[in-house]
Amino acid sequence: MKILVTGGAGFIGSNFIRYLLNHHPAHTIINIDKLTYAGNLDNLKDVEGNHRYFFVRGDIADSECVTKIIDDGVDAIVNFAAESHVDRSIEDAGIFLKTNVLGTQVLLEAGRRKGIKRFIQVSTDEVYGSLGPEGSFTEDSPLKPNSPYAASKTAADLLVRAYYKTFGFPGIITRCSNNYGPYQFPEKLIPLFITNALAQEPLPLYGDGLNIRDWIQVEDHCRAIDLILHQGAIGEIYNIGGGAEKTNLELTRIILKKLNRPETLIRYVKDRPGHDRRYAIDPGKLKRELGWKPLYTFERGIEETIRWYGENRWWWEKIKSGEYREYYQRMYGKR
Ligand code: NAD
Ligand code: TYD
Repeated sequence: MKILVTGGAGFIGSNFIRYLLNHHPAHTIINIDKLTYAGNLDNLKDVEGNHRYFFVRGDIADSECVTKIIDDGVDAIVNFAAESHVDRSIEDAGIFLKTNVLGTQVLLEAGRRKGIKRFIQVSTDEVYGSLGPEGSFTEDSPLKPNSPYAASKTAADLLVRAYYKTFGFPGIITRCSNNYGPYQFPEKLIPLFITNALAQEPLPLYGDGLNIRDWIQVEDHCRAIDLILHQGAIGEIYNIGGGAEKTNLELTRIILKKLNRPETLIRYVKDRPGHDRRYAIDPGKLKRELGWKPLYTFERGIEETIRWYGENRWWWEKIKSGEYREYYQRMYGKR
């Protein structure tokens, strides 16, 4: 099977490529990535020499580039490529629409014309909006996105649905909760707080710190996507969640405790506008229909993740110091 992975130089995409190469010896993978600030070929250093892995620097919104790759023969597409950070979407939503919505449409159209067999849209629980203290999102929950990021992901999901309904296009949508693990860009809560704590720098907690997220270790997410790619039903939506709800404050305290750092490092800062209060995923459908369940407990996942950032300062110190950005500008020209 020849699989086009988009955004494979990012956090989840790179973990997914590694997972596929390790678990499917007959698969070939093409990774198309624009290498934005969040795309990092260091994430794939250990697989770059693999003869079943190919990298193309390209934009999913560039129809010519995408069509050329797909016309060369691709069986399936797994679409991770996206602008993925809520705070950035609040500052400037334009690029979120271009990549997340138009980019997805370009992939759908090129895939449809060529008759690809499967298309996995890697979406998010944020399309459902925010929950009160009780209940969890099912695949039938109403779509009520609250940030420009979430709105752009929702629009992309609706395009996948429309291509399925209109053309019988073989699209499947996955909606996962918050991921954590190795190679996550240190602007997201967990890697930001671990690396700040390691460097004895303050941890900026938004609002009252009582917003709740439902955490999943990235490999559990990758295993779910792999299962859905091979066995999921066309036209379906699958929620994926780790079942580990924590307030941001609880999580911050866990990180500080495990790193033996004082709680005086916590800084309460101005809240994020439109900040969703709680996410919680009901992954029952994926469990029932495809037999998936998370293998990581939160305790084990967070411990291994903290250890990984402690042992891989080479990876994040250059990102945080800006050396990394200069490196890519030198290597690949301006973004
Ligand atoms: P990330 O920001 O770490 O990686 C995104 C990757 O996409 C980067 O490598 C970037 O260079 C690439 N990219 C961006 N624009 C592109 C374009 N126009 N063309 C080609 N490549 C482009 O994001 P992530 O956390 O790995 O998330 C991956 C996907 O999973 C996203 O679609 C996101 O919405 C979804 N998701 C993420 C989470 C999470 O907790 N991180 C949870 C659920 C769903
Ligand atoms: P984030 O990692 O940005 O993921 P998302 O917004 O997609 O859920 O944020 C996770 C939670 O942590 C969210 O409630 C916002 C909060 N947060 C902070 O309190 N401080 C921070 O510096 C960041 C980045 C996030």
